[in-house]
Amino acid sequence: MQADLVVSNIGILWTPKESGKPLRLKAFDEVEEYRNAFIAVKDGKILALGEGDGERYMGEHTQKHDAEGKLVTPGLVDSHTHVVHYGSREYEFEKKMRGVPYLKILEEGGGILASVRMTQEANEEALYNQSKISLDRMLSYGVTTVEGKSGYGLDADTELKQLRVQKRLNEDHPVDIVGTYLGAHALPKAYKNNRKAFLDSVVDTMDVVKKEKLAEFVDIFCEKGVFNVEESRYILEEAKKRGFGLKIHADEIEALGGVELACELGAASADHLMVVNDSGIDALSKSDTIANVLPSTSFNLQSEYAPVRKMINRGVALALSSDYNPGSSPSENFLFTLNIAAIHMKMSPREILNAATINAAHSIQKADRVGILKEGYNADFVIYEAGNFPYVLYHFAINHVKDVFKNGTLVVSNQNKVWEEKP
Ligand code: NIG
Ligand code: FE
Repeated sequence: MQADLVVSNIGILWTPKESGKPLRLKAFDEVEEYRNAFIAVKDGKILALGEGDGERYMGEHTQKHDAEGKLVTPGLVDSHTHVVHYGSREYEFEKKMRGVPYLKILEEGGGILASVRMTQEANEEALYNQSKISLDRMLSYGVTTVEGKSGYGLDADTELKQLRVQKRLNEDHPVDIVGTYLGAHALPKAYKNNRKAFLDSVVDTMDVVKKEKLAEFVDIFCEKGVFNVEESRYILEEAKKRGFGLKIHADEIEALGGVELACELGAASADHLMVVNDSGIDALSKSDTIANVLPSTSFNLQSEYAPVRKMINRGVALALSSDYNPGSSPSENFLFTLNIAAIHMKMSPREILNAATINAAHSIQKADRVGILKEGYNADFVIYEAGNFPYVLYHFAINHVKDVFKNGTLVVSNQNKVWEEKP
């Protein structure tokens, strides 16, 4: 069959192996490798790939693209972000660097609550424009699918504004965005003595979110001084009844039991896990709930890193995400997240690729179309200014992405071209 596009002269191609399930244990440290390879694309999907020049898929109208002997991977999947928010919090940065704890800043009405005020005040255009810039940056680092949460509204109108803006961006921007309603991200001060009323308002808003198809998942911040396990159970069970997938921010600062709850309810992912204990690890290892770890957040908060080697050895399925947000992880640079995973979490290059593609796709229930390069999958892939994937991890804090294809269309072209000969 004639392809719409053939990318040839790929020096080395790394893709996760297809198994239909999240990768764990030995399979997590394996990838499929092709050398001197091609990818043929038809109707935005992969038609074929393998070693050789793909000549037999070329016809009169086939567009050709030369990968110049460089590295190709699937488009990266950033499966935990707070991409739609307004403003920034650099004024808190100094405080944080002087050692004022993250939860103390929140308690004083700063932190998440400060971003809530900025997001409430922003009009839709301003919110759209700021978030679009972030998506452009993410794409420039090779991210072709992201998960995006609300949670900087904490009132129905602003939460819905965030999700509607995100839906518009999903339609307008090459990056695909999977929506999550995080109505219970923090308790507004006005509800200090009436927590149940706030939680009920979050549940009410779920119906609008569902009706307008604004999100596929519901998430909650289960943390000491934020929402406890019982409150998290209430929100997640109500979400489940309404047909949402489930996510939880858990074990970031204290292990309360949110991870065990996520596994019990069949959540798609439990995220953060910096202080996960044996009971949480045990629950994860027996479930398909993905442990979504966020090393940029540990880096920025100068806190602990999730014990990933222990989790991997115990058979937990792991994903990596940037957690891009204005407080604990103010950077869209997903490649830097991967650098930190290598340096501070001691993950191997193969584990990192699997965690940032196929396992991340599982954590947003999109593993049937993204995260792997294989016939029938979306033609989302990245060509790097590098000759192999370990080089991208080793040469840290640099954007090595050259070209990005999204659904078979070239959306980033010849970026970061450098004169030097790369290995
Ligand atoms: O995932 N931990 C909770 N929420 C975000 C941070 C939000 C913020 O500080 O603005 C996170 O780290
Ligand atoms: Fe988060």
